[in-house]
Amino acid sequence: MIKNRYDRLAPYYDFLARIIFGKSLLQAKSHCLDFLPQGAKILLIGGGTGQILPAILEGDRQAHVVYLEKSSKMMAFARRRLEQSMIRRVSFIEGDESKLPAVEKFDVVITNFFLDQFMEDRLGVLINLLFDRLNTTGLWLFTDFQLQKGQAHYWWQNLLVKIMFTFFKITTNLEANRLPEFDHFFQDQNLQLVEEKYFFKKLIVSRAYRKSIDTSTAKGPEPIFKTV
Ligand SMILES: C[S@@+](CC[C@H](N)C(=O)[O-])C[C@H]1O[C@@H](n2cnc3c(N)ncnc32)[C@H](O)[C@@H]1O
Repeated sequence: MIKNRYDRLAPYYDFLARIIFGKSLLQAKSHCLDFLPQGAKILLIGGGTGQILPAILEGDRQAHVVYLEKSSKMMAFARRRLEQSMIRRVSFIEGDESKLPAVEKFDVVITNFFLDQFMEDRLGVLINLLFDRLNTTGLWLFTDFQLQKGQAHYWWQNLLVKIMFTFFKITTNLEANRLPEFDHFFQDQNLQLVEEKYFFKKLIVSRAYRKSIDTSTAKGPEPIFKTV
């Protein structure tokens, strides 16, 4: 079996992230957590070392989390962060999206620095799949890198992103070789932007989308008795 490449990065991941981005990554990932509804069933996919798990599970939110993570080492770090009372509310699943429990729907889907790993083809499939797994008015919390051409900081941010992709290609055999244009993919879905905030000179964006199926244009059921 091919070893998951994130396994060997797991012990250093948080340290490296902190050296480069300071507190910005955590601030960005935590920004939209106030939107989490009470007792929500949450899918956290590619959650890594679980940096935001305690913040999701603490307090009286009573959230239940399905923690789907491909790397067993990353997952082990995530587990270690949690008190027993929190662990009981997390289902740890090792694997990729194919391991998602069949037909289960979620109130919230969280993708933090997860979608940037995939090239456009797979990204489209993944976004469709995650959208389908959201309840009708479910929330999608998305945090990731975003480059903005024409912006004053573009040159060094572009360089930093290139360095990061090269680093992850070497260490984890990353599939993607550039940052995808996430906006196109989200615009194609019935998702309404409800919150947006930028971090680290706008290199990082944190967004909350709400699923909104527009029923006004949907066809109603065919009448059973037709009037003459
Ligand atoms: C860049 S790290 C981000 C970790 C974390 N979300 C964070 O913000 O620190 C991406 C994570 O996604 C995991 N991963 C990669 N492909 C995956 C997949 N198809 N399904 C689930 N997890 C995956 C990796 O093992 C890794 O832990």
